[in-house]
Amino acid sequence: MKILITGNMGYIGPCLVNHLRTSFSNATLVGLDLGYFATCLSNSDILPECKTDVQYFGDVRKIQKTILEGVDAIVHLSAISNDPMGKTFEAVTMDINYKASVELAKKAKEMGVKAFVFASSCSMYGAAEDSARTEKSPLNPLTAYARSKVFTERDIEKIAGDGFSVTSLRFSTACGMSPRLRLDLVLNDFVAGAIASKQIMILSDGTPWRPLINVKDMARAIEWAISRDRTNGGEFLAVNVGSNEWNYQVKDLAYAVAKVIPDIEISINKNAAPDKRSYRVNFDYYKKIAPNHQPQYDLINTIEELRDGLEAMGFDDEKFRNSNYMRLNMLNQLRANGLLNENLEWA
Ligand SMILES: NC(=O)c1ccc[n+]([C@@H]2O[C@H](COP(=O)([O-])OP(=O)(O)OC[C@H]3O[C@@H](n4cnc5c(N)ncnc54)[C@H](O)[C@@H]3O)[C@@H](O)[C@H]2O)c1
Repeated sequence: MKILITGNMGYIGPCLVNHLRTSFSNATLVGLDLGYFATCLSNSDILPECKTDVQYFGDVRKIQKTILEGVDAIVHLSAISNDPMGKTFEAVTMDINYKASVELAKKAKEMGVKAFVFASSCSMYGAAEDSARTEKSPLNPLTAYARSKVFTERDIEKIAGDGFSVTSLRFSTACGMSPRLRLDLVLNDFVAGAIASKQIMILSDGTPWRPLINVKDMARAIEWAISRDRTNGGEFLAVNVGSNEWNYQVKDLAYAVAKVIPDIEISINKNAAPDKRSYRVNFDYYKKIAPNHQPQYDLINTIEELRDGLEAMGFDDEKFRNSNYMRLNMLNQLRANGLLNENLEWA
């Protein structure tokens, strides 16, 4: 089995490659990434890409069909991957996340790839705090990033069929340690604040709901999607990935961090404009179709894992929100230094 992972040099990619190395031990793992965050390593003993069999430094917008020769499955992670980056680089977000994804799926089908796993997001439900959203609920994307996921899912559904299976994994918000840690994710931010300054600053009023998932459990879901049984779900499947127990209000995440890391101060921004991106999600379908690949981490052991990882890094940067652990800062810095052009291509 040959598996191509696009966007493997980000936050999720290195954890996924580690996981696939054991779950598909005979597979050839091929990575393809532009390398925006290649230098953002966090306490990794080796360059994570050494664990792939082949690594391409390339742009998914211009992917050559030759790279797809002999590929059985594609895990498509490459994207402008959060709301702040999507807002700053809206046109590029549509090009990379939407247009390039659909083109990749078309080329993949032509080249005989059998499984296409798309990293989608529960953020496509938008404002949804009244009741937990299922896969049948209406979509309500509120940002360019969320819209890019909705459009892609809609178009790749049409490409699925005739032996080409497409699985759209609507992931909860990621959290947990990775060889390329991010601190622009709510739980990771809270633990980093608690470690560096004994403070958690909640930017909203703390009431928005977010479903969360540990990044290693995302890798387990991808493993399932690569080889899932097509008779159960059909050749196109969109599924919420996470667990019902991991729907939390943001303030409860902060209180949970305070339980694990004592003597910290939590500040809530009572004057914050309401954050409309509040959604609760129902994960019953994922439990039904992937009973052996359910999340294994819980909130407390994920906080402990982040605490231990940050402490092992000697992490003490109180101003981490200005650092390259925030992906938007990294892209802005590469732009400011003239290394990326306005299309986010290497200049
Ligand atoms: N982290 C989350 O909370 C979360 C939740 C739901 C879904 N997802 C999705 O999972 C995927 C991976 O997320 P992540 O957190 O690892 O993101 P990331 O930003 O850390 O990594 C994305 C990678 O894609 C690469 N990339 C971007 N544009 C590219 C292009 N044109 N060609 C080749 N490579 C390109 C970047 O260099 C980067 O290494 C994304 O599609 C994201 O939208 C993430």
